[in-house]
Amino acid sequence: MIKFSPENKTFYLNTKNSSYIINILDNGLLCHKYYGASVAEDNMEYYNLFAKHEYTPNMILNGYTFSKDNLPQEYPVFGRGDFRSPAVCVERPDGRCVNDLIYKSHEITAGVPKIEGLPYFNKNTEGTATLKIVLTDCVSGFESALFYSVFENEDAITRHTVITNTTDKSLKLRSADSLSVDFEAKEFDFLTLRGAWARERHINRRSLSYGTTSIESRRGSSGHQHNPFAALISRNTTEESGEAYGFALVYSGNFRISAEVDQFSSTRLQMGINPNGFTYVLSPGESFTTPQAVSVYSNSGLCGMSHSFHNMCKNHLGRSAEKAVKHPIIINSWEAMYFDITEKRIENLVRSCRGLGIDTFVLDDGWFGCRKSDNSSLGDWYIDKNKFPNGLKNIISICKENGMSFGIWFEPEMISENSELYRRHPDWCIHTPGCAPIESRSQLVLDMARSEVVDCIYNQLAALLNEYDITYVKWDMNRNITDNGSASLSADAQGEHAHRYILGVYSLMDRLTKAFPDVLFEGCAGGGGRFDFGILYYMPQIWTSDDTDAVERLKIQYGTSMVYPVSAMTAHVSACPNHQTGRITPFKTRGDIAQICNFGYELDASKLSSDETEQIKEQIKLHRKIEPMIYNGDFYRLISPFESDCCCWQIAAQDKKNSAVVFATQKATPNSGGFYIKLRGLDPESIYTVSPMNIKLHGKTLMNAGLPITKEYFDFNTAIFELTAE
Ligand code: DGJ
Repeated sequence: MIKFSPENKTFYLNTKNSSYIINILDNGLLCHKYYGASVAEDNMEYYNLFAKHEYTPNMILNGYTFSKDNLPQEYPVFGRGDFRSPAVCVERPDGRCVNDLIYKSHEITAGVPKIEGLPYFNKNTEGTATLKIVLTDCVSGFESALFYSVFENEDAITRHTVITNTTDKSLKLRSADSLSVDFEAKEFDFLTLRGAWARERHINRRSLSYGTTSIESRRGSSGHQHNPFAALISRNTTEESGEAYGFALVYSGNFRISAEVDQFSSTRLQMGINPNGFTYVLSPGESFTTPQAVSVYSNSGLCGMSHSFHNMCKNHLGRSAEKAVKHPIIINSWEAMYFDITEKRIENLVRSCRGLGIDTFVLDDGWFGCRKSDNSSLGDWYIDKNKFPNGLKNIISICKENGMSFGIWFEPEMISENSELYRRHPDWCIHTPGCAPIESRSQLVLDMARSEVVDCIYNQLAALLNEYDITYVKWDMNRNITDNGSASLSADAQGEHAHRYILGVYSLMDRLTKAFPDVLFEGCAGGGGRFDFGILYYMPQIWTSDDTDAVERLKIQYGTSMVYPVSAMTAHVSACPNHQTGRITPFKTRGDIAQICNFGYELDASKLSSDETEQIKEQIKLHRKIEPMIYNGDFYRLISPFESDCCCWQIAAQDKKNSAVVFATQKATPNSGGFYIKLRGLDPESIYTVSPMNIKLHGKTLMNAGLPITKEYFDFNTAIFELTAE
């Protein structure tokens, strides 16, 4: 799977369907040769070394005239002839930023190396192998160790880089990408996931052209606006066919992904920590490790790309890959009561859930300190005795009496100015001395780069988790970070702060999830403001969006599935008119659209009609049936809500014995007749019973002729079809 040919000085990284080839040139430059559909382990000297005569410094090597400016490279630098974007930039003590990396050594080992303090693909790594190539810089005196781990079955390669100062003086890192890939062509579409609060991860596809196209976050978290993912896809790539290269970062902080098309129409794709505002001081001998990135290759369209990402997450990523983790059906208090909670009101809600089949009640915001609205108490993680005179013991036993376990909400990274914690430690919030920090949702951000802050929050949360029988934690984060800087850092290290903040958050998540392995932690950041593989390493599910409107959720869940499996998304049935859009949709529609995610409710169960109560029982019965496919099956996008008035998706068991299809109408067209949806992921020769129509059809008929959509339909109408093989 990873081979080195000493004769050709070439590395071959092979996955099931792809090849990635790297070559050491005679002058020591590390040349990128090829990434794409599988090729043989040939001598690729002829490939990617075209003589392109431009107005830049040339070199002659083995009879080829070339310039670094058009040489495809693995980890390019600036200042010695390549004028495109560098992957790394190191400043010398004299302030100069000229770098020149050449090959020093390499090593191929089994498995994946441990990455200290950062999330990475670490589970079920039997059969994986890692290539480490060390490059050395003779101008500035640092080394870059490039790591490539090959996950053959998933068509995926993970990458990260360790930069080490090998001089006896301090160096300053100005940028360090996790991944840089040079492609010969520019004929790509650039596909990303864009959004805003309550409108996350909508699909954004545009053609690349000359110059640089980029997406980024400078908000302190990966953000609602751009997900740390991008794909380069052929212009004709569809869901089912064509080439797609997908790239995602295992990181939850500031990032940048850029695609630069140069004068020769070559494309350079790079991703890593956002260099904006970032610097990192490397003392003699010190190393900096970039976050991990993952690239996947598909020659079976976007669906193939998504399946590789989904499988990487479900099989190899921290807690997301732990099969023993149970994802309960929950009911959450937020949209039911917001801050207006008391023991009595919660007790009513909990008692009304009796017999519905819900697993866990989650007490959302408003239970701690003296929090009556969003302007106080963050940081005071003790129970508000005015609202809960009996602590949580009473509510927890009422949950148990009614067949449910108990979960709770925290926002560990935040502090309110009106809090005991702030009164004790006013300097613990992120701020610039002499300047009042900017408030957002009336709150400030704790400086998680300081270990004493992390320890204090750990102790408070651990005390509650030890005292009470809590099985579920929703970990929220409700603002962007401003006023960056830390009292714990020296003047020349302030540029490290945004990254050190995230490292502090990861250390807190790591400690808590290890100390409480039986608690299910769910990520949240004002909904889906930090939906990334970094969080999914610690928390196997994330609240997908604060937008609970079923119709809006079609686009959000469809877009999210480009990268993340449905097992990572949480979706709840909420009350109508919907709190975010005012839209009124049938209760069934809300259930059907939430069904194939981590399922639950976000409403006051004491206000349900008897019809809705019966529907909940049916929805839960159905969810129990399709649940195994959510966690172990394959997900297919059949009709895009971005391109059609409808939407359709399907999940299928890996053994192809069962499948479920969800069809939804966004906007009905009168008198439009019926149509057929071609299914996927079935066994062509098996006969499936399709309910509710109760027809029997072969897999190949359903996949080639299609499933008939014959129902009369109207706005927001949905249907779920279940398929069972004989
Ligand atoms: C934002 C979350 O996304 C909501 O679900 C809810 O937990 C609120 N915060 C509480 O403040």
